[in-house]
Amino acid sequence: MKKITIAIDGFSSSGKSTMAKQLAKKIGYVYVDSGAMYRATTLYALRHGMTSKDSGVDTTSLIAALPDIHISFIIAPDETQHTLLNGEDVEKEIRGMEVSGWVSPVAVIPEVRHYLVELQQQYGKDKGIVMDGRDIGTTVFPDAEMKVFVQASPEVRAKRRFDELIEKGTPSDFEAVLANIKERDHIDTTRKESPLRKAEDAFVLDNDRMSRDEQMEVLLKLFEEKTRG
Ligand code: CDP
Repeated sequence: MKKITIAIDGFSSSGKSTMAKQLAKKIGYVYVDSGAMYRATTLYALRHGMTSKDSGVDTTSLIAALPDIHISFIIAPDETQHTLLNGEDVEKEIRGMEVSGWVSPVAVIPEVRHYLVELQQQYGKDKGIVMDGRDIGTTVFPDAEMKVFVQASPEVRAKRRFDELIEKGTPSDFEAVLANIKERDHIDTTRKESPLRKAEDAFVLDNDRMSRDEQMEVLLKLFEEKTRG
């Protein structure tokens, strides 16, 4: 069967990562979480004092440091994918609220985007990949054979993220999670460089009231259609 490229884009906490991971596993494709790459870059900026409440992100220093930021992925013994920043496993840290609070301002910087998009395109050069993010179907892989745009209401998404944080042992405030989601939606959709928007040829998956199994059924059907013949 011919290998294709699968791009899954959507709003923050719409469940794209879980869906993309499950789909990749089911069809034997590689999964790449592009958001984790923006998150790891943000963690680097935080650790190197490149953010301040008053003046925001120190863009000049971050751009100069890009060649020193190496991001990769490993499969942990429990079979989950972990993100490495310069060889260090930062999976847990990049999911916390501090990184979440800074990631969208970091992701608006065009040089950061160019750097990471190039890396993402390298990952996908042999196809057989599922990548999730905001601009995968529009900028990273505009020629992807299968594009999915996932949406759900901000409240449903905040509830999912809140439950996930609790499950990971990070006590959180629901209102703060909801506010972060709304703020990221705003920054992600209004930024100049590669804003989050549906690719014209993307399939819209509204998963507010869909179970994971129902969702997977829809995706597998779409995958079959795209790889047939
Ligand atoms: O929290 P969630 O899983 O929805 O987000 P994520 O996929 O981890 O991405 C975190 C942030 O990185 C997003 O809010 C975007 O600001 C940025 N991002 C982006 O700009 N482009 C991508 N392809 C992926 C993420």
